[in-house]
Amino acid sequence: MKYIIQTLGCAMNYSDTERIETMLEKMGYTKTDKEEEADLYIFNTCSIRQKGEDRVYGKLQTLGRYKKRNPRLLVGLTGCMVRKTSTKNSPKEEKDKLFNVAKNVDFIFNIKDLAKLEEVLQEASPNLEIKPVEVGDKEIKDYLKIPAKYTLNYKAYVPIQIGCDKFCTYCIVPYSRGREQSRPMADIIKECEALVEKGYKEITLGGQTVNSYGKSAIDKKSGLFNGIKDPFITLLKELNKLHKKGLNRLKFTSPHPYDYSDELIQAHKDLEVLTKSFHIPIQSGDNETLKKMNRRYTVEDYKKIIEKIRKIIPDASIATDIIVGFCGETKEQFENTYKTYKDIKWDMAYIARYSERPGTVATRFFKDDVPREEKARRWHKLNKLLEECSYNYNKSLQGKQLEVLVDYYNEKTGELEGKSRENKTVQFKPKNTSVSPYTYIGKIINVKATTPLQWVIKAEEV
Ligand code: 5AD
Ligand code: SF4
Repeated sequence: MKYIIQTLGCAMNYSDTERIETMLEKMGYTKTDKEEEADLYIFNTCSIRQKGEDRVYGKLQTLGRYKKRNPRLLVGLTGCMVRKTSTKNSPKEEKDKLFNVAKNVDFIFNIKDLAKLEEVLQEASPNLEIKPVEVGDKEIKDYLKIPAKYTLNYKAYVPIQIGCDKFCTYCIVPYSRGREQSRPMADIIKECEALVEKGYKEITLGGQTVNSYGKSAIDKKSGLFNGIKDPFITLLKELNKLHKKGLNRLKFTSPHPYDYSDELIQAHKDLEVLTKSFHIPIQSGDNETLKKMNRRYTVEDYKKIIEKIRKIIPDASIATDIIVGFCGETKEQFENTYKTYKDIKWDMAYIARYSERPGTVATRFFKDDVPREEKARRWHKLNKLLEECSYNYNKSLQGKQLEVLVDYYNEKTGELEGKSRENKTVQFKPKNTSVSPYTYIGKIINVKATTPLQWVIKAEEV
């Protein structure tokens, strides 16, 4: 029996897919990348923007054709588009609303019910012969306790928090993922220790507002999370101990500016495992828009964080997320974002056009009134600036020594590719030609940056 999981969206979804794989393989499924031979097709969906949802509906039509050829094929949905675990055979009132609009779907499961996947599949297809998942697993309430079948053997994503309490007015996450929940610190440390023991070089800690880790569960009287003060900083300090055991890089994504404390900035200086790369979403460079977005900081607050970071790490790489064309965003307000970009000069930015999400405050109370073409114009204008800033940042690294974690060998060009500590893509030819270039993958290599390009830095191994 063969399965395919198609994952859309953020790193959290990809990480969840690694846990779904563990469950399916326990049931006796094996992975395939050939759609036509799959008996089980799971979509791990994203609903941040309408575009992601449209992709799912499009694919479901194709899967309808596969189903005609292979009546055994089961199709399921999970991820941010789904709410209620249910199957096509569940009583009507228990079914997820998606069944009304999504065709060719046999089952839907909320990722938090992952431990019950076997029961769900069995309800969707009563004659299905799958191996029962080991006793005990079905009792798992915290689905993050299900171990991930990590995709790579040298870098891994470790979720530390799910859900979000911030309720930015445009965002679906607090509704799709629920309220913020932090994993017990002991579980996270255990997972990271095991990874480093196996030789992993890089760990990325993940959460929607990762630097508020533990905050929602802080005891009001004592100010402690599970007896711990400053849980996120404490976690980083604990994991920094793994540096001696071989952990080269510890990253985290994405922090919220509201929770970016001075202690966290200082940690970047003090803790060897933290890198020179930062990803701090601003969303808008206009104070009124930020207020309407319920972001809880001003452009000035944000700039203070960046100033402090650059004081400590002058060559820090700083990335951000920006939304253009939010409800009522005037040309002047957009120009404020443009000006802020020119001031801060982020070397990387994920720029999105506002996409209305059902159920959010923005959809209920504001009007999505910036025309499509105007959103596109603003998007292109910012992207042009991004291209310039990305190139200039890469140029500033010219001649410098960079430390690259190699991800990939390109047979066509004969070049290795990986990420530097600044999170920049670096390409270089392997120096040691007596070994297979593939042996470089997963290793840390020192290179000298020779030629900066817009998105890539060409380098020489030293
Ligand atoms: N429309 C466009 N972009 C959005 N994002 C979140 N919600 C929306 C939306 N409704 C963007 C934000 C966030 C990133 C993950 O996706 O920039 O940081
Ligand atoms: Fe969405 Fe805002 Fe939470 Fe990020 S902080 S997940 S943008 S609600």
